[in-house]
Amino acid sequence: MGISVGLGLTNNCNLSCPHCYRPTEDIGNLTVQDIRTVCDSLDVGSTNLGTGENILNPEFFPIVQYLQDRRIKTSLTSNGYSVSQVPDEMLKRFHDVEFSFDFGTREGQDAFRGSGAWKMAIDSMERCLTLGVEVTILACLMRINYDRMGEIAKLAGSYGVNFRVNVYQPVRTDRFSLTYENFWDGFRQLFDAAPIVTCTEPIVNVALGWRRLSGPQCGRSSIRVTPYKKVLPCVYWPTPALSLKEVPEVRDRIWETPEFQKTRAIPEVCRSCEWVQNCWGGCASRRILRGDLYRPDEFCPIVRGEQLTLNHQVTEEKELLHAANVCTTIVNPS
Ligand SMILES: C[S@@+](CC[C@H](N)C(=O)[O-])C[C@H]1O[C@@H](n2cnc3c(N)ncnc32)[C@H](O)[C@@H]1O
Ligand code: SF4
Ligand code: SF4
Repeated sequence: MGISVGLGLTNNCNLSCPHCYRPTEDIGNLTVQDIRTVCDSLDVGSTNLGTGENILNPEFFPIVQYLQDRRIKTSLTSNGYSVSQVPDEMLKRFHDVEFSFDFGTREGQDAFRGSGAWKMAIDSMERCLTLGVEVTILACLMRINYDRMGEIAKLAGSYGVNFRVNVYQPVRTDRFSLTYENFWDGFRQLFDAAPIVTCTEPIVNVALGWRRLSGPQCGRSSIRVTPYKKVLPCVYWPTPALSLKEVPEVRDRIWETPEFQKTRAIPEVCRSCEWVQNCWGGCASRRILRGDLYRPDEFCPIVRGEQLTLNHQVTEEKELLHAANVCTTIVNPS
């Protein structure tokens, strides 16, 4: 099937959203040669272009051309700006394009991301839909918008597109972190609004009573390459596993390097849990960012002795690259 590679072509951006994980100290850019190194060394099944606004990488066009010529399924995540600069023919060759909305109204989106952010995303999304490009709306679930999931689902439903939700990770600040109650209220609202296409967030799988996962994907079949030419087991992981230049030598032994092994660490108290084979202690990035990789996921109801039920419906699963990339949840409100 090939591995899922997140490529942060650049950390440069036209916006400066306050929750963003991208480093802002100095600008790094991947080159075509870097991408060739990755693709020649690893069995790349798909790539996602994320981190900053990718068009701001000076080699954006040759990089995308290279990936498309190699027939590697590639998706793009954007605030609308990159998409507005890409010609129709290239846009149509993306496997899918995602637009970030943290709120389902112009007022909310512009107040959070800056004036004009709503229109920029809507205009580019409408252009993609006109061209027949597969579109997803992506939201980061945070303390400030956990009660707006229904509103964003409605927006996605009005365009007939999927809605994907990633849980906020405190990479640079804790200001947007969810409380336990916020987390579950957010998912309840999301699942009340729309049926589930897929969910790879381990702790949510446990609450759904699903046995489909065998632990998170990070550290096993997905990697992230940063604009600083470092390789991470997950986009949010705080310490690099390798430098990009070491990848040709390590190749598929990459999974056995120490940082990758760390993502598979299972907290002691989880070992006797009936869900351990599915959950592995929950999101390892969240645990390490919270200061203790060996404590179970802070959103786990089981360690609190709570019985949690989530009303939900499921709908037909689609091939959506992002489900292989990070712990994520996709619903279809249309
Ligand atoms: C970093 S942006 C890069 C692509 C593009 N600039 C955009 O905004 O979609 C990719 C996604 O990551 C989300 N994101 C940013 N910081 C995050 C964090 N700390 N935890 C989880 N998601 C985050 C954004 O909201 C966005 O949906
Ligand atoms: S637009 Fe995307 S990359 Fe830019 S600051 Fe916002 S979330 Fe981060
Ligand atoms: S106790 Fe550990 S393995 Fe069990 S559900 Fe909670 S985090 Fe997952």
